[in-house]
Amino acid sequence: MMPMPRELPPNIEGVLISEQELERRVGELASAISADYAGRRPLLVAPLKGAFVFLADLIRRLGMPLEVDFVRLASYGAGTEPSGPVRLTKDLETDIAGRDVLIVEDIVDTGESLGYLIEALQRRSPASLHVCALLDKPERRRRDVRVDYRGFTIPDRFVVGYGLDCGEKYRELPYVGIMKRETPSPSE
Ligand code: IMP
Ligand code: MG
Repeated sequence: MMPMPRELPPNIEGVLISEQELERRVGELASAISADYAGRRPLLVAPLKGAFVFLADLIRRLGMPLEVDFVRLASYGAGTEPSGPVRLTKDLETDIAGRDVLIVEDIVDTGESLGYLIEALQRRSPASLHVCALLDKPERRRRDVRVDYRGFTIPDRFVVGYGLDCGEKYRELPYVGIMKRETPSPSE
C-alpha cells in the first residue's frame, strides 16, 4: 500500500530518505559492524550534535557490548555554508589508547571535519580507528577521508532531519529531507 502523502514543512522540498529506508539501512550497517567487531567492546565516538539520532538507532541494533563518547566539532555556522577551519570545542572523556574506536558521523561533505577528527584521534594510539557515516556527499569533497561503513551516497544538496539541522531547526524530522534552494527575496 502506498503511504499517505505527507505534509512537509514549508522550507523542505521533499523527502530524500524515508523513515523506512533509514531503518532498513541502519539495520544493515549494524549487522556489518557487529560482525566485524565480534568479541570486542568498541568505543563509538559521535560528533555532536548531528550524529546523535543515528547513533541512538545504530547502538540499539548492534546487539553487542560497547561504549559511547562524544566530541563537538565546530565547522558550520548557523546557515548552510562552511564557516572557517575545524576546531574541537568538546573533547572525549575517554582514554582511547588501545581501544577499538568507531567514529559515527551523520554526514561527510567536504571531509574537513572528519579528516581533522581522524587525525586528532589517531595521535592518541587507538588499537583501531574506523569510520561509519550515514550520509556521504562526495561532490564537495576537498579532503580524502576513508569511510568504512557508508549508509547512503547523496547528491550535493543541503539535507536536514534525522538529527541534521539547518540553524538548529529540523533535527526532529524522522526522515532526511532536502532543503529548498534559497530564493531571491520575495517581491510578491
Ligand atoms: P564537512 O567538514 O564539510 O565534511 O562537513 C561535515 C559537517 O557539516 C557535518 O557533520 C554536518 O554537521 C555539516 N553538514 C554538511 N552537509 C550538511 C547538510 O547537508 N545538512 C546538514 N549539515 C551538513
Ligand atoms: Mg556532524
